[in-house]
Amino acid sequence: GLLIFSNLPLVYNILNTNPQDANLLSNETLDELFIPEILENESEDPSNAIFSLEAKKGSKTFFQGINTPTYGYNGDFLGPVIRVNKGQNVTINVRNSLDEHTTTHWHGLIVDGDNDGGPHQMIKSDEIWEANFMIEQPAATLWYHPHIMDITGKQVYMGLAGLFYIDDEISASLDIPKDYGVDDIPLIIQDRSFDRNGNLVYDFPQNMMNDGMIGDIIMINGTVNPNFQIRKDLMRFRILNGSNANLYTIRISDNSTFYQIASDGGFLEKPVSLKELTLSSGERAEILVDFSSYTKGDVPSLVVNNNTALNFEIDDVENSSYAIPEYLTEVPRIDIEKASNQRAFRLQGMGNMVSINGKIMDMSRIDEFVSLNSTEIWEVTTVGQMMHSLGHPFHIHGVKFQVISRNDNPPPENEMGWKDTVMVYPAETVKVIMQFTKPGLFMYHCHNLEHEDAGMMGQFKVE
Ligand code: C2O
Ligand code: CU
Repeated sequence: GLLIFSNLPLVYNILNTNPQDANLLSNETLDELFIPEILENESEDPSNAIFSLEAKKGSKTFFQGINTPTYGYNGDFLGPVIRVNKGQNVTINVRNSLDEHTTTHWHGLIVDGDNDGGPHQMIKSDEIWEANFMIEQPAATLWYHPHIMDITGKQVYMGLAGLFYIDDEISASLDIPKDYGVDDIPLIIQDRSFDRNGNLVYDFPQNMMNDGMIGDIIMINGTVNPNFQIRKDLMRFRILNGSNANLYTIRISDNSTFYQIASDGGFLEKPVSLKELTLSSGERAEILVDFSSYTKGDVPSLVVNNNTALNFEIDDVENSSYAIPEYLTEVPRIDIEKASNQRAFRLQGMGNMVSINGKIMDMSRIDEFVSLNSTEIWEVTTVGQMMHSLGHPFHIHGVKFQVISRNDNPPPENEMGWKDTVMVYPAETVKVIMQFTKPGLFMYHCHNLEHEDAGMMGQFKVE
C-alpha cells in the first residue's frame, strides 16, 4: 500500500495532460452540496416496491453560467437513491431514452443472473427493461450504474450512477444517525475533466502512461466545490468511490479520528477508528464523524487525495444525542474449511493492454463454472509491477465476499466485513471467500472502468 501512496501524486500529474488548462473553470463561491432525492416507491403494498428509472440526456451547470451536456437517471446528472427493505419484492422499470444501448447493474445486490443488469441485459434505445428480485441481504449501501460492453466508462463519466440503500431491522434499531440528508448524508465522490466550453472530456491517450480516465476536478454528488452545513453532532456519511479509475484517500482536514461502521456489503462488527481511508472505484464505506467539539466559525473539510473536496460549515444547533456505538452487528467469518474449490485470477497489464488469466472479455465465452450454493476461495493477483499502475479494484457480481488475506497477512480491521469489491495493489495477492447463492451468468472484473471496457472482465456461470 505504501508504495502506491507515494506514487499517486506522480500518476496524477502525468495524467493531467494539460496542466495549464486545469481549473480554467472554477467556482468562485461555494455551492450547496447536492443531495439526491429518494426515488418514490409506486407500490401501495409495503411488501412490494415498484420504481421507475429513465436513463436520459441532460444538461447541468457545474460552473456558473456554463451548461455542460450530461447523462442522468430521471434527472440531469447521477440518479435518485433507490431505497428498499430487506424482505421486499422489488420491480424496477428502466427506460433507455439515450441514443445508444445501455444496461443497469445493481452493484452489490445479490440476485439471479437475469436480473443483475450486466452486459447481457441490454436495454436498447427507447426500450424498457424490467428487473425483478427479492431483497434477501442485510442493510447496506449499494449503487447502480451502466454495464454495457465497451462504453460503461463513458456512460458513467457522463453521469449515469446512483445509490441503492437496503434497510433492515438492524439498521433501524442501531442508535446511529439515520435522518436522510440531515445527519445521514450520501457522498458520491468522482473526478472529471472539462474543456474550456464546459464539456466533459472523456478522452485519454491510449498508451502505457495512462491507466484510466482520471479527471482534474473532484466533485461530490455532482457538486464542484461543495459546502454543507453541519450540526454540532455525530454525522454519518455514506461514501461511494464513483470514479472511473481513481483511488481516493479520504481524511478530515484537521486529521481528526472518524469511525468506519460499514463496508460494501453492510455493517462491520464494530466501528473501526481511522484517520484516513482509501477507497478504490466501486467501493463504499459508511463513516461516523463527530462534530460536537467544533464551534461556529470553524471550517473543517473533507479532504480527498490532498484536495479540499467538501467544506463543512458548523451550525449553531447543538444536538448531541448520539455516541459511537460499541457494537454494530454480527459478521460471522466464513470457515475456510467450507471451501470446495479454489480458483486463481491473474490481473495483468495497464492502460488498454489488460487481461485476466491471459484472456480478454468475450460475451460468448464462459470462463468459470461454479456449483450453486458452493463456497469457494478466489485468489486474485496483480501480476508484475508496472511503473504507473495503481493496481486493480476487483469486483464479483452475485455475491458478497470476505477478505481472507492480503499477501498472506490478515486484512485490516475495516476489511473484515462484507465486501463485493477489493483493491489488489501491484504485486499483491488477495484471497477472498464466498458462497454462491444465486444461479445464472455473472461477471467478475476490474472496476477501473477503462480496464473493464478494454476487456479486463470474465464470466462465471452458477448452476
Ligand atoms: Cu460496479 Cu460489474 O460493476
Ligand atoms: Cu484494472
